[in-house]
Amino acid sequence: MKLCFPLLLCLAAALSSAFVISPPHMWTKLILTHHWPSTFCSMEKPACHPNISYWTLHGLWPDKGIDCNSSWHFNSSLIEDLLPDMKKSWPNLLSPSSASFWKYEWHKHGTCAAKAAYLNTQHKYFSKALELYHKLDLDSILKKFDIVPSETYYKLSQIEGVMEKFYGVKPKIQCVHPSKNADFQVLGQIEICFDPEFTLMDCEKHFTMKKISKADFIADDKASGFSVCDLNVPVYYPPLPSNT
Ligand SMILES: *[C@@H]1O[C@H](CO)[C@@H](O)[C@H](O)[C@H]1NC(C)=O
Ligand SMILES: *[C@@H]1O[C@H](CO)[C@@H](O)[C@H](O)[C@H]1NC(C)=O
Ligand SMILES: *[C@@H]1O[C@H](CO)[C@@H](O)[C@H](O)[C@H]1NC(C)=O
Repeated sequence: MKLCFPLLLCLAAALSSAFVISPPHMWTKLILTHHWPSTFCSMEKPACHPNISYWTLHGLWPDKGIDCNSSWHFNSSLIEDLLPDMKKSWPNLLSPSSASFWKYEWHKHGTCAAKAAYLNTQHKYFSKALELYHKLDLDSILKKFDIVPSETYYKLSQIEGVMEKFYGVKPKIQCVHPSKNADFQVLGQIEICFDPEFTLMDCEKHFTMKKISKADFIADDKASGFSVCDLNVPVYYPPLPSNT
């Protein structure tokens, strides 16, 4: 485990930044999760056929809390102006014309993010996620450094290295492991983390609420079939399957 040094100072900093902005029991980190449509769809066959060859949004997740307010219903007319961008940047890969994915993300994560005053409406939450997604521009950054879908495998350290160099923080990179003995893993999901002031931070750093956040995200990862990529296994970054 990586420790912040000096530990007490870091703890104090993390706590105070959460407390200044909002009441206790606040989340201290936001995780912007991207997924790679080809990989997602390879797990969801035949429900989705990938026709998108850029990283799309999966969600914006606070590190604390799940389903924080079940009576706060998703209403797509509140984000009408964002819908064209949502459809492009945060598509529902299983059902492109349905708002169900956004509704799910709002209930599970958005209602918890909304504990911060600056994310306390659906419009604020979804527009902030889109803003961060465009700001990071993950897809272009990977391309720019020649990390492109390919039949040739990458080393995890190549992909991680490019991202750490460009963003200055550690991402969390997740793969699908096709089988126990497979000689490769499939790149699937990339998380990039922000502190409550939207400054980039290492995804691995947890100051507080470690147990809760871990349980939440293990549940999320399991449901989706992703796990952290293995440093020693070649990484397959799959191109779009050719049309069949
Ligand atoms: C992908 O296909 C879906 C449905 O087949 C369609 O609605 C969507 O616009 C397509 N997306 C792209 C980027 O071509
Ligand atoms: C839950 O959401 C509803 C609808 O927006 C709101 O009226 C209520 O105050 C919220 N409850 C809490 C505990 O935030
Ligand atoms: C959704 O929001 C719009 C705009 O505020 C409002 O007119 C409408 O009644 C809401 N729909 C539901 C089902 O709450």
